[in-house]
Amino acid sequence: MNDEKKRELRSQAWFGRQDKMGFYYRSFLKNSGFPQDQFEGRPVIGICNTWSELNPCNSHFRTIAEHVRYGVLDAGGFPLEFPVSSLGEVTMRPTAMLFRNLAAMDVEEAIRAHPLDGVVLLMGCDKTTPALLMGAASADLPTIGVSGGPQLRGVYRGQMIGSGTNIISMSEQLRAGEVTLQEFHEAEGAMNRSHGHCMTMGTASTMASLVEALGVGLPENAAIPAADARRNHLARMAGRRIVEVVNEDLVLSKILTRQAFENAIRTLAAIGGSTNAVVHLLAIAGRVGIELTLDDFDRLGRDVHCLVDLMPSGRFLMEDFYYAGGLPVVLRTLGERGLLNKDALTVNGRPLWENVKDAPCWNRDVITSFEEPFKPEAGIAILRGNLAPDGAVIKPSAASPELMRHTGRAVVFESIEDLHHRIDDEDLDIDETCIMVLKHCGPKGYPGMAEVGNMPLPQKVLKKGVRDMVRISDARMSGTAYGTVVLHVAPEATAGGPLALVQNGDLITLDVQARSLHLHVDDVALAERRAAWQPPTPHATRGYAKLYVDHVLQADKGADLDFLVGRTGSPVPRDNH
Ligand code: FES
Repeated sequence: MNDEKKRELRSQAWFGRQDKMGFYYRSFLKNSGFPQDQFEGRPVIGICNTWSELNPCNSHFRTIAEHVRYGVLDAGGFPLEFPVSSLGEVTMRPTAMLFRNLAAMDVEEAIRAHPLDGVVLLMGCDKTTPALLMGAASADLPTIGVSGGPQLRGVYRGQMIGSGTNIISMSEQLRAGEVTLQEFHEAEGAMNRSHGHCMTMGTASTMASLVEALGVGLPENAAIPAADARRNHLARMAGRRIVEVVNEDLVLSKILTRQAFENAIRTLAAIGGSTNAVVHLLAIAGRVGIELTLDDFDRLGRDVHCLVDLMPSGRFLMEDFYYAGGLPVVLRTLGERGLLNKDALTVNGRPLWENVKDAPCWNRDVITSFEEPFKPEAGIAILRGNLAPDGAVIKPSAASPELMRHTGRAVVFESIEDLHHRIDDEDLDIDETCIMVLKHCGPKGYPGMAEVGNMPLPQKVLKKGVRDMVRISDARMSGTAYGTVVLHVAPEATAGGPLALVQNGDLITLDVQARSLHLHVDDVALAERRAAWQPPTPHATRGYAKLYVDHVLQADKGADLDFLVGRTGSPVPRDNH
């Protein structure tokens, strides 16, 4: 590497110094076995690792990190792995989403504070992907995303079972007395039988797909199973490529353009992806100054068909998606229909279209053509009305067609505890024509906007064989869930949104085709209710939860913290001596 290039490397502000501080920086790293030549102008690549035993979806990340490391070394770089907060969807309470913004802060500050020239982000379980992308976007170094990959198919008694999706259906069967506890336990081992994240098109696989669609990941990032050796090949190629990305000064903001977000929104529709991606994409876009709105999701996704027959909406799993050709086939199909910004630049240095234009499909049962789609017009629908002035979302591909236009009597639950307490009460006045309304589960209300929007149905309704009802809340729902579920109502109840004013017995009309959510209570009555409304007592009085509640934006703005929106880049910080 010539002297001019060396000077351009950010890391040389640490390692290139021939003084007391240069001694200090190099000497301590030499104790790990790095010889002098490592410090003489090699691009320093941070491998940002979310490995944790508390996050089983990312428990193989030490192996993936090793393959990235080999790749960086192959290309003449200097790899340095570092840990950041890992957000395990399964075990974190009250919800991993509460900590997404905290982890994003961790990532941003860790990148900026250290002598790094580029970063490879290792992401898997749901919130780890947006957290790392948000933090990296604000730090804005050359960056490549590597997802950990989905688990192998779950197989139980000869049937494919999908993570999350079948947990929900089996727990409802258990509550309805249709399966035994022994069968329930047996299915647990059969479902999550390999490393990797949820293998349905839940939030993790949706976000891994969007990493690829945004151009931040290499082609095929979305679907290679964690247990497939090709996941490690991809990691190694990412390690090699990031060194070139540094030399090309291809910072993340050159990839995360408006074109890229539009591609991601259309991809979200074409894969029937998780509603959580709406909140995450809004937050990531906010970090790079792209003004994305809920209406962009409706407008861009409206004419896009769902092309993949994957759970939770369909039959197959991510492993099948990979064998069928994976996301490149979906992107190619979108491109052929004029639904892709073909010139959007990707981290391999090529426009997105160049990566996918020849992608072959090996199984039309799994990835359908646009002419005969799995589900027509499946983009996320944005609802508005006097119940959700700032918007609410519904995933039509996961909803019951007969409920897409429905008027029903509201049965209101004031909190998730209230729901759990009363849902199976025989005296609860509810039937399948009612609309279940859950309050105080939004960003401030829960806090953290938990995935409780797909409320369990009352046992007495389940026993009739009914499996879906209209449900409305300011919460999110797991990407592996399904049902006619209206989510992310904004403003949320705790912030004084109209949702707070709904009472038992009110009539509500959901009309997805008209994009409308209407509470049949006149303005005068609503004003009276508002005058009597008292904000709930805050859950959090100190610590991070208080910071979060005081600063979190509403769901239609991505639920980021207000002071984290935007980017600072990575100017070299001042010396600490
Ligand atoms: Fe980690 Fe689903 S629980 S991806």
